[in-house]
Amino acid sequence: MNTKELRELYVKFFEKEGHAIISSASLIPENDPTVLFTTAGMHPLVPYLMGEKHPAGSRLTDAQKCIRTGDIDEVGDAWHLTFFEMLGNWSLNSYWKKEAIKWSFEFLTEKLKIPVEKLAVTVFAGDGDAPIDNESAEIWTKLGISENRIAYLGKADNWWGPAGQTGPCGPDTEMFYWTGEDEAPEIYDPSDKRWVEIWNDVFMGYFKDKDGNYKKADKRNVDTGMGLERVIAVLGNMPDVYHVDTMWPVIEEIEEISGKKYGEDTEITKSMRIIADHLRAAVMIMGDNRGIAPSNVDQGYVVRKLLRRAIRHGRVLGIKDNFCCQVAEIVILLFKEIYPEVEKNKSFVLNEIEKEENKFGKALEEGIKVFNKIEGPEISGKDAFVLFSSYGFPLEITKELAKEKGLSVDEKEFEQEMKKHQDLSRQGAEQKFKGGLADASEQTKKLHTATHLLQAALRKVLGAHVEQKGSNITAERLRFDFSHPDKMTDEQKQRVEDLVNMAIEKEYPVSYREMTVDEAKAKGAMGLFESKYGEKVKVYTVGDPNQKPDAISDSPTFSMEICGGPHVENTKELGKFKIKKEEASSAGVRRIKAVLE
Ligand code: SER
Repeated sequence: MNTKELRELYVKFFEKEGHAIISSASLIPENDPTVLFTTAGMHPLVPYLMGEKHPAGSRLTDAQKCIRTGDIDEVGDAWHLTFFEMLGNWSLNSYWKKEAIKWSFEFLTEKLKIPVEKLAVTVFAGDGDAPIDNESAEIWTKLGISENRIAYLGKADNWWGPAGQTGPCGPDTEMFYWTGEDEAPEIYDPSDKRWVEIWNDVFMGYFKDKDGNYKKADKRNVDTGMGLERVIAVLGNMPDVYHVDTMWPVIEEIEEISGKKYGEDTEITKSMRIIADHLRAAVMIMGDNRGIAPSNVDQGYVVRKLLRRAIRHGRVLGIKDNFCCQVAEIVILLFKEIYPEVEKNKSFVLNEIEKEENKFGKALEEGIKVFNKIEGPEISGKDAFVLFSSYGFPLEITKELAKEKGLSVDEKEFEQEMKKHQDLSRQGAEQKFKGGLADASEQTKKLHTATHLLQAALRKVLGAHVEQKGSNITAERLRFDFSHPDKMTDEQKQRVEDLVNMAIEKEYPVSYREMTVDEAKAKGAMGLFESKYGEKVKVYTVGDPNQKPDAISDSPTFSMEICGGPHVENTKELGKFKIKKEEASSAGVRRIKAVLE
């Protein structure tokens, strides 16, 4: 089976059970200050898991693009990927354990034709916060999973979420597939690595509050996740995840360019895996609908690290010239049908890669010379910082070079150097890897509505070329990136601020309607038109939802945007809007930070 077949098999199966097939959301989460990337299928659905109504209904299914950067050091082994796809199905207070587990079982045994003998499951063992999940275990045994193949584990293994500090969470039941050569043992041993996790059904019946207490949630949501590449690899008996069809042609291209063979030597194999994984991830982030160029901050810095590490491993393979674009073109070819945005953004992606490779290619050679002169056994934080600031070596590269020579790096001192140089934003990017999801407090809701007002006001003052390039909301402030070539004048800033405050004073109602993307476009709504033809979206209007928004300052339809919500009900709730800062974000993109007082 290939990825295309599995994606289709999965969503069609759940469509038959009343699920609406939705599009993958962007890899760049919106309005979420604590995390850089979409890390799971449930991530873009958090507002709906928290109670917002979803326009497609209460049963959803999709394949979602995901990025996980936490495991970046592990990339190079057989199973870890930075970019991967997650299949999932969700119940928004619709079905519960019985249906979810039954469908999981049917899909595995009937659609994927996995013999029951090759399956084992885990369920939650219970603790002071929530009882043992006997209900799930019973459902499994009724379906034909023997008691011996069910393990009861604690929170560390069988509880998912909340994704942030607070939010929906609950016990889960995980499904494992036997990859051993011999017959699967009768009794399931969770510590035996030949059992590989393939699917996870989370029963989000709890809510973790600020004080760390788990309360029963008033809604019972189900969130499931299946790693697409991993399932293809284990079911196909592949030796690793790099043999999957959305990866193998990338490896073949690297073989072709380098003249080396995958598998001929562990070091060569590892470098090829890192190049393939990192370029695949970088292309998907750059080619996203909210595509990000390499830079020194946030997602851009992750892209930069991925590209630079790929370039360095190209040198390890003996590749002397630029090679990344050639590999990137294969990635685009592999994904353009399922994620057309990567093809649409192809020239941007290739240009940015070429620039980065030209820049770093030279610095890398010089930096390696400098590195080779450093005497061990430890690379000081100061030296690591010089490599970072003068030669553009992300810490990961220095650590890797050191490891290859049996040296260590004083990471603490490196961090101190970073702090000294006030490079706080980049540090922020590092720390966000550990983050969770944003909270959905009243304050973030207000700032979210204020963001819509701000975008509308910017278009009225600066012109219709203004488009959202990014949005990030914390409980304290909003941050909005938008396309505009010049620094805003003081007068423009004042006019924008006044317009937003006028919209607040007018006490406009905030409402939404559900419609198809094309209807939204025809109505003049702003937003990412990333959903497929015919798919329903929510369109939030500030002011009169029956008219079209236009450029005049006191248009009765102040703003209209495709957006999931949540928002306040009336602009009068917002207080006073104030722009704190207007600055450059990247070429052609300005950034505003603003607050509600
Ligand atoms: N959110 C869960 C996971 O990431 C299930 O989708 O595994």
